Amino acid sequence: MSETATRRSEPVSAARRQFDPYTKAVWGLMNHWYPAFFSSELGEDEAKGIKVCGIPVILRRANGEVFALRDQCAHRGVRMSIRPACFTKDTLTCWYHGFTYDLETGKLVTIVAAPDDPIVGDVKLQTFPVREKNGIIYVFVGDDGYEPVPDLAEDLPPKLPADYPHQVPHLLDDDAVVLGIRRTVASNWRLGVENGFDPGHNWLHRDSPIVVALDTALPLGLVPRGPNALTTFEGDGPKGIRNEWDSGDYDVVMSSEKLGLQARGANKIPGLRTSIFLPGVLMVEHWPAYGLAQYEWYVPIDDEHHEYWAVVAKSCPTPAERTDFEYAYDKLWRDAALGAFNDDDLFAREAMENFYAEGGTGWDDEQLCGMDAVIVGWRKIVSRYARGYQTPQAHPTPKNA
Ligand code: FES
Ligand SMILES: [Fe+2]
Repeated sequence: MSETATRRSEPVSAARRQFDPYTKAVWGLMNHWYPAFFSSELGEDEAKGIKVCGIPVILRRANGEVFALRDQCAHRGVRMSIRPACFTKDTLTCWYHGFTYDLETGKLVTIVAAPDDPIVGDVKLQTFPVREKNGIIYVFVGDDGYEPVPDLAEDLPPKLPADYPHQVPHLLDDDAVVLGIRRTVASNWRLGVENGFDPGHNWLHRDSPIVVALDTALPLGLVPRGPNALTTFEGDGPKGIRNEWDSGDYDVVMSSEKLGLQARGANKIPGLRTSIFLPGVLMVEHWPAYGLAQYEWYVPIDDEHHEYWAVVAKSCPTPAERTDFEYAYDKLWRDAALGAFNDDDLFAREAMENFYAEGGTGWDDEQLCGMDAVIVGWRKIVSRYARGYQTPQAHPTPKNA
């Protein structure tokens, strides 16, 4: 037996058994809320398609409200979103042979050339619950008829306690302005999640323009040392885990003597910490600057792609504050924080993909160390609280969809 194999065999068994369901969650977690589009991407009467956990979903806005249906015509299976056709406010028509579905119920209500066909009224497409708040359209993706549908708030990081001194806006706060971008990344969704709150990867960002420009004291890494380093959320409400970087139970590593590396930057950000909640929502408090919060999602598209959402939120009780924040977002945060800074993360996730993809051995062969405790914690929490796991879906995505 090789040295690697020997070392692997002991810890793997105990720790891995506890998050075994997670290692199989290749196609994502079912029966959870995911962001689908920014509100600005779906105008009145527009219809557009996405894929979540391999499920094609079409969203249409009518009379201001957004509806979501399975984006696979019951007749011959085409994606209706590739040529959306809508003739009334309450229906969606397939561009191919004219099967027409009720937006709210998904029922087949007519067929253009065969309105009297007996299957009218009998056939139905799956519908998905939708919520829209602060510029984001969320869709609940899961098993047909899953009940009860939990509140959207159950699948977002929780609000900070009112007496906590370093407040940041919650995604559902009425005065929160939420601005951001999304892009497709060629890695499994779990590699996106695990990169987001990984306390050992900080030094990857050390030369990022925004870190240099703001003279931010970004540690080379953070290593949990005591029982208060991590907080797990397993009671009522969202399920997740938080890095308590301010707890004193984290070693904040600013230099590596052996490698001659020294963290630069004089400005420490108070209250900076990261947390992750099911189904994979990252919250970075006081990033990219004090008073702001960055939130991210890694929405599974299929087994080897995720839609990476990154938004910055700020409380803006007045129109003037909103205008100021929009200006700062447009001139600085979008490109320097969500763009350049997070480009480092995309690079890392795609670089890991082959190791963990089908045919790779990553889930068995990875050699995690002490600083990865929060990653192991996250995997266990998913394994305990996921509402469902998606089974392998049709693949690859058809060219025209
Ligand atoms: S495939 Fe949609 S109506 Fe025929
Ligand atoms: Fe990062």
